Amino acid sequence: LSRESFPKDFVFGTATSAYQVEGMADKDGRGPSIWDAYVKIPGKIANNATGDVAVDQYHHYKEDVDILKKLNFDAYRFSISWSRIFPHGTGKVNWKGVAYYNRLIDYMLEQGITPYANLYHYDLPNALEERYGGLLSRRVVRDYANFADFCFKMFGDRVKNWMTFNEPRVAAALGYDIGTFAPGRCSKQFGNCTEGDSSREPYVAAHNMILMHGAAVRRYRLKYQERQNGRIGILLDFVWYEPLTDTKADHRAAQRARDFHVGWFLHPIVYGEYPKSMQRVVGDRLPKFTEHEVKLVKGSMDYLGINQYTGYYVKDQHLTKDQLKHPGYQLEWHAEFHYDRNGVPIGPRAHSSWLYEVPWGLYNALTYVKEHYNNPEVILSENGMDNPGEETIPKVLQDGNRVSFYRSYLLQLKKATDDGANVTGYFAWSLLDNFEWLSGYTSRFGIVYVDYDTLKRYPKMSAYWFQKLISRNKQ
Ligand code: GCO
Repeated sequence: LSRESFPKDFVFGTATSAYQVEGMADKDGRGPSIWDAYVKIPGKIANNATGDVAVDQYHHYKEDVDILKKLNFDAYRFSISWSRIFPHGTGKVNWKGVAYYNRLIDYMLEQGITPYANLYHYDLPNALEERYGGLLSRRVVRDYANFADFCFKMFGDRVKNWMTFNEPRVAAALGYDIGTFAPGRCSKQFGNCTEGDSSREPYVAAHNMILMHGAAVRRYRLKYQERQNGRIGILLDFVWYEPLTDTKADHRAAQRARDFHVGWFLHPIVYGEYPKSMQRVVGDRLPKFTEHEVKLVKGSMDYLGINQYTGYYVKDQHLTKDQLKHPGYQLEWHAEFHYDRNGVPIGPRAHSSWLYEVPWGLYNALTYVKEHYNNPEVILSENGMDNPGEETIPKVLQDGNRVSFYRSYLLQLKKATDDGANVTGYFAWSLLDNFEWLSGYTSRFGIVYVDYDTLKRYPKMSAYWFQKLISRNKQ
């Protein structure tokens, strides 16, 4: 593998998100997001950790961009914290926040690193949650479009690659069905929530996010795109679902899983409606796109980001009587996950319990999108793994596992592009160890180790592996 293995002008970068790396969460005028509120509930996050300091990219951004440059990366995918720009979600601007992103963007450009800016990474301003129930209210559509519009106006002279959302499925499913991500709502059946209705809320939140996306894209296209000469898309997470057995029932279950997981968002954006399988199962509880909404949403993507880490086997699931009494997003897949087939694991497990190394799943996912969604331009916007036992240097710097993980996925990506998938970029998750949501700081996805006491950065072996892979001078 070398840079030449990939299409001409292929972009290599790394990805992070605001709450996971910035720190300064309650400083310099930033307002709280729903994650700031959520992490303060005791017992939600490993060791009750918070993103208050994270890896303090707010102050270390130059160092981090210098590392990117030294490692030969072309691009950096970061996210803009809505509540750092609008502390109350709407209204008064926090100019210190604007100045921070200007410094970051300017320094990236000075160093020849291309910015990829994402406008929403789970971090709704908490004021909007309190004011009208956040993603459950239609009011959020206009407020988000105004925030996005402001970002295009302020940064769009320099940022040419925009993304409206990161993994809206995760925000809807974990936030409103499973109840483990902010704002932590779900039905009582899951035991860890006191408020919510997972038979409806995940679908409402998702519908509103799709409209938020559409409204932001419309603003961009109407007011900015031509003059600024950029593009805009959305980032979806994609787990590859493989039928456990060759029965028709398992094939259908795997297809349902792909529909509920990726089709939920991609189908409306490409075709203007939800997948048929979802319409059938969810029925009246699934919001419908009005004619006006179809116009807003259909075709609202210049390129697609796919976050791809893992794959599972899927088996058709018969629900018990008790389960049938409680419809809800995840149950409605009628599909069970399996991590092995006849005792053979689907792939080696990483530190996180959800993450199995299944590189062929990436090939299948890219090919699936090509075939089912008209071969859109795709960037692989996240891919990576956490290793067990990475708490201390220097052992952690010898992350041979991670190198072999990246190599095996990149080989599959190359195979998919050789076979016609239109993939134009690859972003490793993540540049740095950082705040990993529920796992706090106990899970490390970085190619650069961070000592959380000193905030010093130490590139791991995988970082140097990338440096060599993407070097422009043939060795
Ligand atoms: C996302 C992901 C990241 C995670 C990464 C590792 O939504 O993009 O949740 O924020 O840190 O996927 O789990």
